[in-house]
Amino acid sequence: MIGYLNGQYLPQENIVISPEDRGFLFADGIYDVIRSYNGKLFRAKAHLDRLSYGAGALQFNQTDFGYLEPVCERLIQDNRLYRGDAVIYMQVTRGVAPRSHAFPPIETPLTVYATARPFQPHQQEAETGIRVILVPDQRWARCDVKTIGLLANTLAHQRARTSLAAEGLFVRDGAVMEGTHSNVMAVFDGKVITPPRTNYMLAGITREFVLRLCGELSVPFLETPLYESDIRNADELMIVGTTVEVTPVIAVNGENIGSGEPGPLTRKLQMAFHRSVGFAE
Ligand code: PDD
Repeated sequence: MIGYLNGQYLPQENIVISPEDRGFLFADGIYDVIRSYNGKLFRAKAHLDRLSYGAGALQFNQTDFGYLEPVCERLIQDNRLYRGDAVIYMQVTRGVAPRSHAFPPIETPLTVYATARPFQPHQQEAETGIRVILVPDQRWARCDVKTIGLLANTLAHQRARTSLAAEGLFVRDGAVMEGTHSNVMAVFDGKVITPPRTNYMLAGITREFVLRLCGELSVPFLETPLYESDIRNADELMIVGTTVEVTPVIAVNGENIGSGEPGPLTRKLQMAFHRSVGFAE
């Protein structure tokens, strides 16, 4: 595979990053993941804008990452990923400097790294739906920044896997915020409910897109807190995200949601999403 590091395209095995990189030492970095469908990037600008937002929040010396769109396109070409699904991973750190909590000199170049890999969609999960568990949200208070500091996410996700669930949903102060790598939506009485954007959740690009689909399909929706105590009464539940797209959730903590089968509104949004990808931008 060919990857990208600081302006160069290199075979993956030749890409070397210093152990003094602040991403390695402090998780001082941000990332994003863009899906491509048959070689076409899905919502690339929105992902790169989010990367810029994160770079601003972390006070990086550079915050415009629009130039990465052609980089992603070239990675698709160089890795011959123009058919089928692929994911492009991009990571930007504050660069290389001797370990010190203080930021390095402002002119220290950021480390900018990207890879493109084929992606196998989770067809079975999309078809039958998944089981999830609720997990305490032990993350920091800037979950709106897509940082590479993902230990709370990976621990929670692993806990879900150990419980034979496919995803964990974070609960903070009685409210379900989002998944470990997805956003969450519920259906109550024909209305889609999803937690509002705050510093405690990531503003998912897929979430935004699915809400737009709701508008187009005249499906009522509301951005309002989703309480842990209400979730078992939801008629339907789903997770949405770049890798999971729209995936039905059929059980939470071993209790069925609705009939215990993917719900009709979830299916409608899932189908609309699948129709849209590829021609969405
Ligand atoms: N994660 N919430 C969290 C915590 C996430 O990590 C993600 C995506 C989402 C969904 O956002 P989007 O629709 O923009 O992909 C929500 C990526 C895919 C990852 O970490 O691999």
